[in-house]
Amino acid sequence: MVKSILSCKLDSRMKRFRCRTFWLAVSLGVLVLNLRRNYSDQTKNLHKSDHINKRIYDVERQEQDSQIRQELPSHYVFPWPKCQENTSAANVTDFSSLPSRIKDFLYYRHCRHFPMLLDVPDKCRGADKSADVFLLLVIKSSPGNYERREVLRKTWAKERLHNGKKIHRVFISGTTDTGFEKLRQNKLLEMEHREYNDILQWDFVDTFLNLTLKQILFLEWMERNCPNARFLLNGDDDVFANTDNMVEYLQSLKDNDGGKHLFAGSLMSGDPIRNPNSKYYVPVQVEINSFPIYCSGGGFLLSGYTAMVIYKMSQSIPILPIDDVYMGMCLAKAGLKPSNHIGVKTFGVNIPSTKLDQYDPCYYKDMLLVHRFLPQATFLMWQRIHDSNLKC
Ligand SMILES: *[C@@H]1O[C@H](CO)[C@@H](O)[C@H](O)[C@H]1NC(C)=O
Ligand SMILES: *[C@@H]1O[C@H](CO)[C@@H](O)[C@H](O)[C@H]1NC(C)=O
Ligand SMILES: *[C@@H]1O[C@H](CO)[C@@H](O)[C@H](O)[C@H]1NC(C)=O
Repeated sequence: MVKSILSCKLDSRMKRFRCRTFWLAVSLGVLVLNLRRNYSDQTKNLHKSDHINKRIYDVERQEQDSQIRQELPSHYVFPWPKCQENTSAANVTDFSSLPSRIKDFLYYRHCRHFPMLLDVPDKCRGADKSADVFLLLVIKSSPGNYERREVLRKTWAKERLHNGKKIHRVFISGTTDTGFEKLRQNKLLEMEHREYNDILQWDFVDTFLNLTLKQILFLEWMERNCPNARFLLNGDDDVFANTDNMVEYLQSLKDNDGGKHLFAGSLMSGDPIRNPNSKYYVPVQVEINSFPIYCSGGGFLLSGYTAMVIYKMSQSIPILPIDDVYMGMCLAKAGLKPSNHIGVKTFGVNIPSTKLDQYDPCYYKDMLLVHRFLPQATFLMWQRIHDSNLKC
């Protein structure tokens, strides 16, 4: 019998079938046992390495936590009451006919102080040492733009020395959305902040019409934490900025180490747009009839000196919905002028023919700043312009 089962040499077809099924079941059983053993070995190893990783993680967390606790001085109590809407704003002529974003703007236009949700007070190693920061990158970014920030951290906004000069980075942000989505967005920024220490976030709604507010809050932060930074790049998170070239350009300014006026970018002029469908709509109720010359907010370079002058001027100029125009108004009030730099292309680079590669690194390697660049393009271009084999 045993012999016949082993060899499956049974007569009837039915018996042969049973015999095969038997062997199939046995092999399956062996296979399952083996797999289980492997699996439990693996999970044992996994648990072991998990355990070690968690211990390393906990230690790092504790270090970071105590660092963050140190960063947020316990005596720092937000000194202003919560800003209330100005109900009289609704008294202006034809208020009811204005788009709701403009109504919102008018209701909260007077609000200039908001609590900080995330701070990096030692970004410049304290106000006294802040003169060591040669170029502070101040990048306007709203919470949802995670991918942009990730790529910038690896490319042009990497904190580093270039030509012996320190480049530091902060993203400036408000809050977006409501309810759980708002909480998730805030959590995301908080996690990034723990990992990179590069986010300044205030508790106001991060909209296009609140960008001026964002700029003023940043300048207030700068006066407190980084007043002597030599130069700043102020711009959007969807630009390609050649920060190496910027440092070289700023170093070449023989008579300015950041203590004199500089405000350079892509010059703009024009009057307020009265079309309610435009992103840049400024209704007559905002009470501004002409714009000064200004630099496009996509990105401009300024000296620490000029940043502090703008901050002082801003204290007596009502907030405008367009942040770059507002900067121009602050300059004008101080009797200073913005200047044009041909390397700043906030309307893109004009590549002479559509037959040419619109992303040929040779067109970009000598630029200071180009708008607009999305994450993949930024990552690729940064690698390509640094390729030592690049021949132009
Ligand atoms: C605005 O209008 C309200 C009534 O709608 C009135 O009570 C208030 O005094 C007005 N404010 C101003 C500043 O005119
Ligand atoms: C509120 O709005 C009214 C009408 O625009 C304005 O006259 C007043 O100065 C505003 N109040 C504050 C506190 O900004
Ligand atoms: C600006 O932020 C304030 C504070 O969060 C908010 O109340 C207001 O609606 C925002 N303004 C605009 C135009 O979004």
